[in-house]
Amino acid sequence: MSDEPAATGPTPFERLGGEAGVRALVDRFYDLMDLEPGFAGIRRLHPSTLDGSRDKLHWFLCGWLGGPNHYMERFGHPRLRARHLPYAIGIAERDQWMACMMQAMQEQSVDEGLAVRLTESFFGTADWMRNK
Ligand code: HEM
Repeated sequence: MSDEPAATGPTPFERLGGEAGVRALVDRFYDLMDLEPGFAGIRRLHPSTLDGSRDKLHWFLCGWLGGPNHYMERFGHPRLRARHLPYAIGIAERDQWMACMMQAMQEQSVDEGLAVRLTESFFGTADWMRNK
C-alpha cells in the first residue's frame, strides 16, 4: 500500500509495543466505539458483538504497521476498499473513525511523533474507504 508507514528504523509495530501494544490500541478503539455517543454512527454499521472486528483489525494492523502478516495469512490480500463497500461510508463516518482512533491513541499514550505519523496514514486509508 502506498500509504504504508516507511520501514526504516524501528517499525511502528515495534514502537507501539508489538502485538500486545497493537491489541491494546484496537481494544481501546472498539471500547470507545461502544461507549461514546459521538461514535454511534459507525458503531451501528458493525455487528452487535465486536469480537470478530477486534480480531480482524488487530491482525490487519500488525502487518500494516510493519509486524507479522496475520491478516494476509488468514484471509489473503486485504482488499480493504472492496470489503468496506457493504457499509455506507462518507465524510461523517470517516471523521468518526478517525476521531475514535485518535482518542484511542491518546488514551494509550502513543508517543506523540508516532501518533502524528499514524494519524496521517490512517487518514489516507480512511478517506480511501469513502463510498458515498
Ligand atoms: C472510514 C471509516 C471506516 C468505517 C466506517 C469502517 C467500518 C468497518 C466495518 C463496519 C467493518 C466490518 C466489521 C466486521 O465485519 O466485524 C470493517 C471491517 C474492517 N475494517 Fe474498517 N472502517 C473504516 C475504516 C477503516 C480503516 C481506516 C482501516 C484500516 C486502517 C480499516 C480496517 C478494517 C479491517 C481490516 C476490517 C476487516 C475486514 C474483513 O476481513 O472483513 N477500516 N470496517
